[in-house]
Amino acid sequence: TGYTTLDYGFVNTAATKSEITYIDGDAGILRYRGYPIEQLAASSSYLEVAWLLIYGELPTESELAAFDERIRRHTLLHEDLKRFFSALPHTAHPMAVISSALSALSTYYETSDDPKDPEHIEITTIRLLAKLPVIAAYAHKKSLGQAFLYPDNSLSFVDNYLKLNFGNLAEVYDIDPVLSRALERLLILHADHEQNASTSTVRLVGSTGANLYASISAGINALSGPLHGGANEAVLEMLGQIRDSGEGVARFVERVKNKEDGVKLMGFGHRVYKNYDPRAKIVKESADAVLEHLGVQDPLLDLAKELEQIALEDDYFKERRLYPNVDFYTGVIYKAMGFPERMFTVLFAIGRLPGWIAHWREMNLDPQTKIGRPQQLYIGPGEREFPRS
Ligand code: CMC
Repeated sequence: TGYTTLDYGFVNTAATKSEITYIDGDAGILRYRGYPIEQLAASSSYLEVAWLLIYGELPTESELAAFDERIRRHTLLHEDLKRFFSALPHTAHPMAVISSALSALSTYYETSDDPKDPEHIEITTIRLLAKLPVIAAYAHKKSLGQAFLYPDNSLSFVDNYLKLNFGNLAEVYDIDPVLSRALERLLILHADHEQNASTSTVRLVGSTGANLYASISAGINALSGPLHGGANEAVLEMLGQIRDSGEGVARFVERVKNKEDGVKLMGFGHRVYKNYDPRAKIVKESADAVLEHLGVQDPLLDLAKELEQIALEDDYFKERRLYPNVDFYTGVIYKAMGFPERMFTVLFAIGRLPGWIAHWREMNLDPQTKIGRPQQLYIGPGEREFPRS
């Protein structure tokens, strides 16, 4: 039609209004419901931030305690659902496992009830927050061929998650509070980022009336790509390749600049940030602190710093305003904690879950919401005659 504008990648088109997250990409500012990300990362908890994103205000102490308690009570997975994992190969990518498991989860809980019923949305919110980490830890255990642990509901959300991943049935698992806090901080940093590809996917799927499980499962699949959440895994792969090939950082950067074989500097660049990603600043400090705490010397961290230094001083990156994004240093931390590379994007998904839920709910409450349905500019053939009558 005469009114259709062509906007590849939705660079200039807003699909909604939102009250959840504010980003100023030029200034490098990120706020959840008005609170600066730096303050939340320093002093808040994952569940407090989840509440803030979903309900709009910080919880009172008793609201937070009740929320935490409710989530602890919903961590168990149905025993039948556990058998779902045995149908998959141990080589399965955990992102595929968790998105499929969430679809499967809906078969247990998404009954004929009205999916727009507020009580139903409340309980689904709790179930998702409680069960996704357990499903994610089982995907990890499955890949290792190890037994699944029951959630330990005497532990906090993050400690429980660490134990489910790294504990085993034969030994007592000691929580390292420094690692636990570092992981919590990373989850907070990932909790929302307005209309990124996965959140837009959750909203688009949800706009059809599809339920929360289906919408979030779709969001996880959108997140898995290397240009989005999959970048944290791709960064470690890239660093490993640079180290193993022995080509050196300067030569690798030349190849990126010449766009040889389409090679990109993974963990660099962002659609919205044209300045240092405020999350990346915090992650970089955290990487140093975690490795020092563990007494780990990872040459990949040194390589990452060298790469950043060279790129930030180079005209190619300066002209295009390319800076490290949140994914550049996270993998180094996850690796030091003991997570395999394939789990990195799963950790992003657990972090982003409250944001996805908040957006799905905001969309459903907005009377202006319509089914998402982009236009196209048709450039195919005009009418022609089919050759056989
Ligand atoms: N390495 C080399 N060149 C790059 C990079 C990069 N990482 N990112 C962008 N460019 C170049 C791009 O080739 C283009 O150059 P030219 O003008 O010569 O064609 C210019 O910079 C503008 O880039 P663009 O592709 O138009 O930017 P975009 O907004 O469409 O893409 C992006 C944003 C994040 C997909 C992209 O920067 C990228 O692919 N980065 C690497 C993957 C990555 O780290 N993704 C994680 C993003 S942050 C967390 C998340 O959202 O999950």
